[in-house]
Parts: sequence; structure tokens; C-alpha cells
Amino acid sequence: MSTIIKGFSKLSREEKVQVLLDQQQLSSEMSEAFKKFLHPTEQHLFNDISENIISNFYLPFGIAPNFLIDDKLYMIPMVIEESSVVAAASKAASFWAKNGGFQTRIVNTLKNGQIHFKWAGDIEKLKALKEELLQLFLKVTEQVTFKMRQRGGGIVDVTFQSIPNMKDTHQALIQFKTADSMGANFINTCLETIAPHLINFINEKEELKSETPAQHIMSILSNYTPECKVECKVSCPVDHLQAYAGEYSAKKFSQRFKTAVDIAINDPYRAVTHNKGIFNGIDAVVLATGNDFRAIEAGAQAYASRNGTYASLTRLDLSDGQFEYTLEVPLAMGTVGGLTQTHPMAKAAMEILRHPSAEQLMAIAAAAGLANNFGAVASLVTTGIQKGHMKLHLTNVLNALNANAAEKTEAIKHFKGRVVSYSLVESYLQQLRN
Ligand code: MEV
Repeated sequence: MSTIIKGFSKLSREEKVQVLLDQQQLSSEMSEAFKKFLHPTEQHLFNDISENIISNFYLPFGIAPNFLIDDKLYMIPMVIEESSVVAAASKAASFWAKNGGFQTRIVNTLKNGQIHFKWAGDIEKLKALKEELLQLFLKVTEQVTFKMRQRGGGIVDVTFQSIPNMKDTHQALIQFKTADSMGANFINTCLETIAPHLINFINEKEELKSETPAQHIMSILSNYTPECKVECKVSCPVDHLQAYAGEYSAKKFSQRFKTAVDIAINDPYRAVTHNKGIFNGIDAVVLATGNDFRAIEAGAQAYASRNGTYASLTRLDLSDGQFEYTLEVPLAMGTVGGLTQTHPMAKAAMEILRHPSAEQLMAIAAAAGLANNFGAVASLVTTGIQKGHMKLHLTNVLNALNANAAEKTEAIKHFKGRVVSYSLVESYLQQLRN
């Protein structure tokens, strides 16, 4: 039986592995597997990223070429474990490159931070002092914002709000610009600098005094960034879509596509899967470039519910014989700071993308998301999704079953045009091996 372990973090890597093997009764072969995936020369870089590291977890780093975004051609690095995503993105990219490419617009790049506090005073009186408080916040953060201000960022504004359904509970919601960085550390440092000054201000100002003094609860950035948003669009005459239309006419295809998108606008069950297809592309770029995928997912998924019901992040307009497909999504991405400059593969991704600004990276990720979603919906309303998935899925299953090269060749021949499932491939391999 496992026991509580003390001081695990202080052990060497080898000792940690030994404790793990003992506790979980694992074979010593596992220790070899952990060793095999250590980096031969640069493991120290990965050791500095997290804690209690015993090995590395590899994911494929692929390239989707031919992305024409705002008249510039990109080869987009994508890190993803799901087969077909890079292939679908590449196919859609090539199609749209011949049809005007992806057009993007950065709606804004504002980010938010919150200082929460308890206070029994009148919030309207605090709101009336907003200008004085903003000046105070700018002054007390002068040192910590110095470099950011030189890069065009800094504190932009503040609003004071009460938290709904909670007595005497309020927030200072502060807006920031963080230039090319995602800005989490910058925002949190500013908030923690400001918080004691805000509380003192409330407690010392005669007109704000309440029965009990104001009390700081917490200060942290918000990953909800509806004002850090990109709009990404593709459009072409409906007739040009024949390449995707399969057995349908281009017109019928575009109508079926529109129905699919409208279902995702109106039905949350479908919307989640539809948006998941968008995030196949976005997350792959976010991961490849060392950005914080949990922050981006949390913010964008919340944005999908901004009208009270979870809905599609894309919309399709079919007026005047044009197919105009738009994705609107908040993406708080950065190209400096964090992993973007410490993870060697994130650094490589930035180089492949020719060192984009944060705004360009938002546009690139959005284009990858729209491309993947376009490919998925196009398949769904024509051949279905499994046909395209099968070949890559087959390769994955064959690898999972340790098929050798000859077995793979035979299996690929056998399963051409056939349904692929783990058990079907397993029994086929058994037959072959017998
Ligand atoms: C699979 O990873 C993504 C899809 O389910 C997206 C969709 O249904 O639109 C195919």
C-alpha cells in the first residue's frame, strides 16, 4: 500500500523515480522509459519549468503551410496529439490562400485585473472618486510600470463595481495594456502594489468611512478578456466552394454549411463540439508558441456564453452569392516573456512565424482555428468526419498495437475504404500474425 511521502521535492530525479516505482509497484523498465525521454543536452531547461520532474512528455510539433493571413504567407507550427488536425488546417489554408486568404482585425488588446475587497460603504461614493484613484494607482505603480509604459503598455482605466448577490463585496476592475507580453506577472504585480493603497485610501477618506474598515480579499488578473479580441474572416463567391462540396453543388453545400453553423449558434450541445473544432487549431498554435492554453481556453469559452447561452464563436453570412465566414474570439496571447523565450521549441515556433507581435500571433491562432473549424464543418455536412480520420486513426491504432512495417503496409491495404476501430484492427493483426 502507498504511504504518505515527505520531502519528495528534495530528492534527486533518480531517487524520485525509485520512490515512484516502489510506491506504485511499477517495473524497473519504466525507469528506463523515463530516462529515454530526458533531453540529452538541455534537460536543465525543462527542469526549470515545473517541479518534481522525472521525464518529459513529448507531443508532435507539426507545420501547416500556406496560411495567407492579411496578405502575408505563414507556415504555422502546431503542437497537437490528435490526428487529422494539421492535415485539415493545411488543406483549408491552401484552399483559402487561393481565395483571398484570412483577413483579420484586432478589435482591442485590453486585459483586466481585479482587486476584491469587503467594505460596508457606499460604492457610488467610491465611483465618484474614480479619477483621483486612477491617478493614485498610476503614481504608486510608476516603478513597476516603467518598462511596460516604454513599450506602449500600462494601466488604462479602472471601474468600481459591487459583486452581485454578495453583501458589502466589491471590486476595482482595472484595465491594462501589456504590449507584446501576455502580461500575467505584470498585471499581478501592479494589482498587489495597488491593493494596500486602495484599502488605505478608503479607510482614510472621510466621506468613505464605514462602520467597519475596508478589508482586502484578493488581487489577481482576470482570464476573461472580452476586450482582447480578434476577428478573423474568410470569404469567396459560393461557386468557388466546389472543392469542398463533394457530391453536392457548391450552393447546396454552402446552405448545408450555414445550417450547421446556425445549429451551433442555437444549440449548446453542438456549440461546444463546434468550438472544440476551432480550438483544435487555436490550442495547437498556443501550445507551439508556449502560451498559456488554460487561460486562453477559459477566457474564450466564457466569451462563447456572453449572451447567457453557450454558442458558436463563428457565424456565416451567405448574402449576394458570397460565403463569408467569421470567427470572433478573445485571445490573450503574448510573444515575449514566459515560455515563449525559454522553451526551445516555443522559441523555434516564434522564429518560424518570423517573430510576430502579440497582435499578429492572435491573428495567426485565430486563422488556424477558423481553418480547422471550416474543414471540420465541411466534412460533417458532406462525407462525415470518419472518412478523413480513418487513415490517420489506423496509423495510431497500428502503432498502439506495435505493428511492424510489413504489417502496417498490409493493414493499410486491407482497411482502405473500410471502417477502422481498435478491435477490428486488433483482430485483423491477430489473423495476420497467425
Ligand atoms: C474533432 O476533434 C473536432 C470535431 O468534432 C469538430 C466539429 O464537430 O465541428 C470534428
